[in-house]
Amino acid sequence: MTLIEKFYPVMKPWLFRLDAEKAHTLTVKMMVMAHRLGMLQSVVDTPQQARTVMGLSFPNPLGLGAGMDKSASAVDAWGAVGFGCVEVGTLTPRPQPGNPKPRLFRLPEHQALINRMGFNNPGIHSAVAKLKKRKTKAVVGVNIGKNFDTPNEKAVDDYLHCLKAAYPVADYVAVNISSPNTKGLRDLQAEDSVRQLISALKTEQASLKKEHGKTVPLLVKIAPDLNDMQIEALARVFNEQNIDGVIATNTTIDRAAVAGHALEKEAGGLSGAPVLERSNLVLQAFRMLLKEQVPLIGIGGITQGAHAAEKMKLGAALVQVYSGLVYRGPALVREVLATLAARSV
Ligand SMILES: Cc1cc2nc3c(=O)[nH]c(=O)nc-3n(C[C@H](O)[C@H](O)[C@H](O)COP(=O)(O)O)c2cc1C
Repeated sequence: MTLIEKFYPVMKPWLFRLDAEKAHTLTVKMMVMAHRLGMLQSVVDTPQQARTVMGLSFPNPLGLGAGMDKSASAVDAWGAVGFGCVEVGTLTPRPQPGNPKPRLFRLPEHQALINRMGFNNPGIHSAVAKLKKRKTKAVVGVNIGKNFDTPNEKAVDDYLHCLKAAYPVADYVAVNISSPNTKGLRDLQAEDSVRQLISALKTEQASLKKEHGKTVPLLVKIAPDLNDMQIEALARVFNEQNIDGVIATNTTIDRAAVAGHALEKEAGGLSGAPVLERSNLVLQAFRMLLKEQVPLIGIGGITQGAHAAEKMKLGAALVQVYSGLVYRGPALVREVLATLAARSV
């Protein structure tokens, strides 16, 4: 067991007494410090779990979901802990403070979180400058969005701005149209809107490929709150536009799984254990509808190794975690990778 695995269970009760966002900020700062002092050791050594997806070499199939490192300030530390991929962001063209605090809540009884952060971030250019200096071997995805005050009619411009800025430093770019905390963002998942957006981004990707001499895959991150017709429409567009990958899923606005909880009515996206089932259904539906060569990244509700294996079985090529890490700490990284290795996935 590594130092950080021993340390997290000791720290967790203290961290959980703090406001959730303060605890998060403090944890990330401590990780960066520990990494600088050479105290972080990977919880895994799994060369046999390396794989190539979308032409990228992933040291292992487990990634850190977007939102944990919005500003790309701890990428090397996350890589050192053992993640094979770190998705930074969501980043917007201009820096923005996000929604008023408090905006992050724990529901420990459900191993869940509710957040309405609202894309608090230092802007794409700040993150790009940091990513230029990274040393990690982990694949780094840059998750992009629009500023809160950009109307949906101009959203394409924001995404294009971020794609151009991120292209030279990103291993892949993820287009976030599924956060529930930016007014109207999910409307971009409507068939005509998404077609217009993806078509513009794919055209730009082609010209950036010529300019930079490398292909940076373009993925879309989708919501779990989609009905069958919406799923079919999105899959149609993704297939026709040759999207490079799909990340399923973001947080849910559905509260059925936490009905009766004191925080049930807090606005925002629910994540962690309660989103597992719905995320899996969406993942499975997309696997059936998308062209075989389009990989899926499965995220939503992984709090045990077996959940990650289940997502792989349903058709994910890679998996990511966020809320599970808050509840389980780095032990979850070890457990997920050990389970996947034992089941040869
Ligand atoms: C506090 C918080 C902030 C998040 N911020 C983002 C974000 O900026 N962009 C994004 O695409 N997803 C964001 N997410 C969603 C996660 O990446 C993930 O899709 C979701 O939480 C489901 O996975 P989980 O159950 O493992 O947490 C955020 C989640 C949480 C809990």
